[in-house]
Amino acid sequence: MSSHTEIITSAPAKIILLGEHAVVYGKPALAVPVTSLRVTVTATPAEATIIEAADLQQTLPEGMSAHELTDPLLRMISATAQHFGAQPPKMRFRIASSIPVASGLGSGAAVSAALGRAVALALGHDILAEVLNGLVYDIERIHHGTPSGIDNTVIVYEKPVYFMRDQIPQTFEVNRPMRFLIADTGRTALTRESVGDVRRLVEANPSQIQPVLDAIGYAVDLARIALAQGDSVLLGELMVKNHQLLQTLTVSSPELDHLVMTALDAGAGGAKLSGGGRGGNMIALVTSETEQAVRMALTDAGAVRVISTTVGGS
Ligand code: PMV
Repeated sequence: MSSHTEIITSAPAKIILLGEHAVVYGKPALAVPVTSLRVTVTATPAEATIIEAADLQQTLPEGMSAHELTDPLLRMISATAQHFGAQPPKMRFRIASSIPVASGLGSGAAVSAALGRAVALALGHDILAEVLNGLVYDIERIHHGTPSGIDNTVIVYEKPVYFMRDQIPQTFEVNRPMRFLIADTGRTALTRESVGDVRRLVEANPSQIQPVLDAIGYAVDLARIALAQGDSVLLGELMVKNHQLLQTLTVSSPELDHLVMTALDAGAGGAKLSGGGRGGNMIALVTSETEQAVRMALTDAGAVRVISTTVGGS
C-alpha cells in the first residue's frame, strides 16, 4: 500500500422484519439492510494502529494477538490482520456512523464489517464476504453472547436474507415493493440481556415456550410467501402476530407496545418491535397513502426518529 493512500469503507444498518429471538433457537428470520444508515471508516497512515470515533481514541498495543484483546474494535482489526498472517497496519481508523447504537439496527456489526474491510484493503487484500462474515460474527459474540449470526450476515452481504442458523443464507423474493417505517423509542436496550432472559425462559418452561418459538418460525415462513406474492394484508397480520409472540417472550416494553398500537391505529398494515426489544426500534408496514399519517402519529407518540425503507424494487 502506498503511504499516502486514504482508504474508505462502509457498511449499512439492518432491520429484522420478522423472527428475532426465535432465530437464536434455529427458527428462520427475515432481515434487510437499511442502506440509508451507514458506518464509514476512513483509514490514513499513522505512527501506530489507532481507532478514533466520536467519543473515543484507542491505540492497539503492539504484539498482542486478537484473542488477548477484549475491546471489540481493536480485536476486529487484530483478527482481520491475523487472518492475512500480517501485523495490524499502522493507520488511524476514523469511524463515523449514522446508525443509532443499541437500538436493534446492527450498529456493532456494521462497525466491525467496515473496519474489517478497511484493514484488509490496508494490507492490500480484498476480503471474501464469507471470511468477513465469520470475523464479524466472532466479534458479535463479545457483544451478544450467543448471537444467531443474522446481523453480520445481512450487513456483510448487504442483501435481504431469509436466515437460519448454521445454514447458508438465502435471499428472498419480493413481488411488490413494501414500505416500512422504522421508529425509535429513544430507549437503548442491550440485546445480550433480552437474549439472556429468553434463554432463562426457554430453560425454565420449555413446554410452554417451544410452541411460541415454533409459531414465530411459522409466521416467518408465511411472511416469506406473503412477500413473494405481494400480499401486504397477510404480511401485516403476521407482523402483528409476531409482536404478540414477542410479548409472550417478555421482550417488548410499554414504549414499544405504545408505538405499535399507535401505528396500527394510524393505518399501518402491520407493526411490531424489531431486534432485541425492550427498547430500540419498531417497524410499521405502510403504503404511500398511509405513510404520512403513520409517521406523524409515531412522532406525536414519542418516537425520537422515524425513517423509511423499502423492501423490494429499487
Ligand atoms: O438487537 P439486534 O438488532 O442486534 O437483533 C438481535 C436479534 C436477536 O434475534 C434478538 C438476537 C440474535 O442474535 O439473532
